Amino acid sequence: MDIIRINDNSDKLYYIGGIVRDKLLGVQSLDVDITYVGNAIEYCSKFGEVIQENPDFGTVRVNVGGRAVDFASTRAEVYEKKGHLPVVTKIGCSLKEDVLRRDFTVNALAMSVSTGEIVDYAGGREDLKNKLLRVLHDESFIDDPTRIIRALKFRVRFGFELEEHTRRLQEDYLAHINYDMSYKRVKKELIETFNLNSQRAFEIFVNEGIYKLVSPENFELPKINIEELIKKYPVQNIWLVYIGLLPDLSRLEFTKEERKIIEDARTIGDLKNDFEIYKAFDGLASESILLYGILKDMRAVVRYLDTLANIKISITGEDLKRLGIAPSPEYQKIFDFVLKAKLENPKITFEDEIQLAKNFKN
Ligand code: CTP
Repeated sequence: MDIIRINDNSDKLYYIGGIVRDKLLGVQSLDVDITYVGNAIEYCSKFGEVIQENPDFGTVRVNVGGRAVDFASTRAEVYEKKGHLPVVTKIGCSLKEDVLRRDFTVNALAMSVSTGEIVDYAGGREDLKNKLLRVLHDESFIDDPTRIIRALKFRVRFGFELEEHTRRLQEDYLAHINYDMSYKRVKKELIETFNLNSQRAFEIFVNEGIYKLVSPENFELPKINIEELIKKYPVQNIWLVYIGLLPDLSRLEFTKEERKIIEDARTIGDLKNDFEIYKAFDGLASESILLYGILKDMRAVVRYLDTLANIKISITGEDLKRLGIAPSPEYQKIFDFVLKAKLENPKITFEDEIQLAKNFKN
């Protein structure tokens, strides 16, 4: 997303956070955050029609020339309960105070909307140049452990590295995790990180023990390169193919569909032949199939996705009725009988299938 032009001559309106970082890096931004030093709801409503406002956080969404732009008031926060959403203690604090509550120096940059001047209270520009992620204070990961996953995301997305002291703080935290944290936020960051489909992200996640934030017991990196696998067999929910591998997922809240994908992969047992492979995977989400492959048997998965998935029997219930077979659970047995034959010889024709159905004996 590009920087939004806003007609404002005050010295109180600033682009903030990711957008400034991305502009200095010369990459596209995912969203635009603008902060007003003071009360944004009062000041920023003049930029267009107000779409939505949240007085508790001092934020307002305004339609600026057809684009929804979020304006936030500068705010001070405290983490009353570590690992959970902070509590806003002041709306309309100084820009410095607003900026210094953030996660990393590279995300603590501001840029004046009227002059384009960069305001850098924490040395973010220097860190950006050196591609370093540095927390703003030693309690940062204790306040908000999701920042460890955010760091991983930025490491992979931009090729950043953890600054030495920040790396030690991460290690310290991972050795003393407080599991009473907001897993809703953890999940959001996991989705953003692993949807990047990066083997490197997963290797760091495992080798540095970041996965322990979710699943405490020891976990070893699977031998399969998951990034390559997903490139060959694309799926919609990429992150699930990574995170679904962790042994303990009890802390994450999954949707019904997500839970089914994981459970399906875990309940399938040994698959001994083409017919068993076909019956197990037919109609299953691709994510489940890949998970099964990584966890149990990749040869079965490759056999299915490369070959068996393309095989379909042609006869239907209507054809069986026409043969004078009354509808009953027998139909499924006939279809399976025909399927078995077709898996052995995919070239058989519709007529062959009809003949097989006629010959079927229970
Ligand atoms: N932030 C933070 N701690 C978090 C999440 C966010 O301090 N746990 C701050 C950072 O300053 C961040 C800003 O809030 O830049 C906006 O957060 P978000 O939109 O999630 O991140 P961006 O940095 O904008 O990154 P992205 O490009 O992924 O949107």
